[in-house]
Amino acid sequence: MMTVSMTEKNVNAGGTDRHIPVLLEPVLDALLNEEGHSSEGRQGYLKKGDKKAQPDQMSSTDEDKTQPPQKRIFIDGTFGAGGYSRGILNSLKDKCDVRVIGIDQDPDAVRDARGMLREFGPKLDVVHGRYSEMEEVVSGLGVSEVDGVVLDIGVSSMQLDQDERGFSFLRKGPLDMRMSQSGPTAADLVNGLAEEEIANVLYQFGEEKKSRYIARAIVERRASEPFRTTTDLAQVIEAVVYKKAKDKIHPATRSFQALRIYLNDELGELLRGLNAASRILKPGGRLVVVCFHSLEDRIVKNYLRAASGRVPNQSRHLPEINKEFHPSFQIINPKAVKANDEEMSRNKRARSAVLRSGVRTEAPPHEFFEADLGVKSLQL
Ligand SMILES: C[S@@+](CC[C@H](N)C(=O)[O-])C[C@H]1O[C@@H](n2cnc3c(N)ncnc32)[C@H](O)[C@@H]1O
Repeated sequence: MMTVSMTEKNVNAGGTDRHIPVLLEPVLDALLNEEGHSSEGRQGYLKKGDKKAQPDQMSSTDEDKTQPPQKRIFIDGTFGAGGYSRGILNSLKDKCDVRVIGIDQDPDAVRDARGMLREFGPKLDVVHGRYSEMEEVVSGLGVSEVDGVVLDIGVSSMQLDQDERGFSFLRKGPLDMRMSQSGPTAADLVNGLAEEEIANVLYQFGEEKKSRYIARAIVERRASEPFRTTTDLAQVIEAVVYKKAKDKIHPATRSFQALRIYLNDELGELLRGLNAASRILKPGGRLVVVCFHSLEDRIVKNYLRAASGRVPNQSRHLPEINKEFHPSFQIINPKAVKANDEEMSRNKRARSAVLRSGVRTEAPPHEFFEADLGVKSLQL
């Protein structure tokens, strides 16, 4: 684990200005507003028919929330360019003794945080690590419980825009895709996995219908020359998945997304992160998650439903909720919050963003596994 000190130089070497935080206003609303979600009527973030969590559904400690707590601590588990951390700090710095602990598994994100560390001084720490290990990370800083956890799942614009990181099929670079910059690369996967395993990755993590054809083409091509670059792989995929006029996405979108999600174990991280958040949040603390992919959103939605005891139609996939069940979360908005038209036109990334949030109750945490959430295996 590496924590950046405020004395180090070379501020913002990677150009974090490029990343526009997605759904920032509703994220801050869900995370900081203790009266429930207050976006109703503001910029159309709350959909018609949405209900706020009712006071009588909340934990008893919520009645005592008229005064801001002396000290409020938040975890920004996917620090990136620090957009959410900055939002939290600017919103609360004059109102209470606020502290944010940012975590990112990408060493570049931690390096580029130096400017913000200077700006916010002891109110901000940025730690290199995984958000699934948030308890260990914050305990190293003397913290055992927090008021809020926010996660913004996916890649940052800085990662996508750097050719050498190999995340984008539109940019020629090494076929890398590792957020942590360590371990096997995407090239190792496509050059090393069996044909059936490649097909399973593309289908399971990218919902790619042509997974079997793409896997075949990959194996045929690598027999003569291994894959080295992003564009190399994109061309092979394009030759199998023809782009029709009505298609909105590039033929390689799903396959690249699948390889990235599998390589970085993004779904496993998410489930472990939600379980970790439920253990570290104080009663009344907020969990806010922004996802860009339907598989990820399903995990968050089903997690919050299961933890709050909301199991409509008694889905056979979700744990049976009996009278003894004590919800560990209350859902803040039953329907997902999405970007409004103005944000979508300003920021393309916001188009697929989905925000879900919950309030921690006083009940003990629950640990959920993939089978409890009705999601396909998070491993191959
Ligand atoms: C979409 S960006 C976050 C952007 C950020 N909210 C902002 O406003 O600047 C996602 C970041 O999370 C990091 N990340 C992804 N998975 C992670 C994990 N399991 N643990 C820690 N960081 C992770 C990525 O490296 C990336 O920098």
